[in-house]
Amino acid sequence: MDVALKIWRYDPESGERELKRYEVDAPDWATLLDVLDLIKDRMDGTLAYRKSCRMMICGSCGMRMDGAAVLACKTRMYEIAGAGHEPVISAMGNLPIVKDLVVDMDPFWAKMRAMKPWLEPGYLEPEEEREFRVSQAQMNVIQKEALCVNCGCCVSECNAMESSPEFFGPAALAKGMRFVGDARDQQTVERLEAYNDEHGIWECTRCYFCNERCPKGVDPRDAIAKLGAESVKNGIDRDMGAKHAKWFVSSAKTTGWLREEELIPHTQGIVSTIRQMKFAMRLASHGKARLLPIPHTAKDVNEARRLYNIVKQQGRDGAAGIVQGEKALSRIEFAEETAEREAEEAE
Ligand code: SF4
Ligand code: SF4
Ligand code: FES
Repeated sequence: MDVALKIWRYDPESGERELKRYEVDAPDWATLLDVLDLIKDRMDGTLAYRKSCRMMICGSCGMRMDGAAVLACKTRMYEIAGAGHEPVISAMGNLPIVKDLVVDMDPFWAKMRAMKPWLEPGYLEPEEEREFRVSQAQMNVIQKEALCVNCGCCVSECNAMESSPEFFGPAALAKGMRFVGDARDQQTVERLEAYNDEHGIWECTRCYFCNERCPKGVDPRDAIAKLGAESVKNGIDRDMGAKHAKWFVSSAKTTGWLREEELIPHTQGIVSTIRQMKFAMRLASHGKARLLPIPHTAKDVNEARRLYNIVKQQGRDGAAGIVQGEKALSRIEFAEETAEREAEEAE
């Protein structure tokens, strides 16, 4: 097949950027990485990019295609070339570019190291001459987080890191959850304290781009949600984000309504509420906010209370509730995929 693409080249010596077009004959099975190899071998040996395993394991070949992060060795070119599309390839976002498609991963690794990505079993010891035993149920909590290949695709797309480069970011926090959720680790509270830093879990804007772009299904945003839930469960709720989440639960439980007009006093305190009164009055005068709480409870409030009690009774607060949701979703997806496959086979 004929593959044409454009690549943003960057020369660190001159500081110049240039969009260059390449066209190459490649086998039908070629991935983006194979195409880059062909270009480098046959047309331009100065093209710089990273690669190693060629099979989605090492995480080296992260880059952007048409502005979205991909693993080059996972991206097949057959359909793209067949549709006559010429994709634009560029370096990943949110990391300094070294040359062409190569980014400086030092800031990425620094944040990973800050998570203390190693097991801290404390005084726990495995049985003599045995390894630690971890049940399947215990592994389920961190099964997705353990799939991370440190490629940086999630970091590349992270909204919060764009505005706050010091934010720990999705990859590091997913790594943090991998250890917070590990049944053998004895440093949960210390870890959660560190991850609740000013640039920690609550700085995430919940844009979900990290979940969308992660090539390994780690779903880093879900890992951050698990860290938030574990923090609240462990009483680490000093951040406004934690207070916000807690207030929503208590609001739904007491009256069945999300009483947003009480959100600011409950999350930011009285002084901040008084400071924001003028703004609130303006919103109210345009019918965009209520100033007084809803005086009655919702008709079906008992349903919300029952749900709350079930979660408590089953011990599904903290990360366990989110893991249960993930399992339910994957069961639904599996059932849908099976039904689709069976329908196709029946045709
Ligand atoms: S959901 Fe949060 S961590 Fe993920 S990309 Fe968006 S801001 Fe970043
Ligand atoms: S979470 Fe996904 S996208 Fe982010 S570094 Fe790990 S594998 Fe890559
Ligand atoms: S080359 Fe290893 S993940 Fe692509």
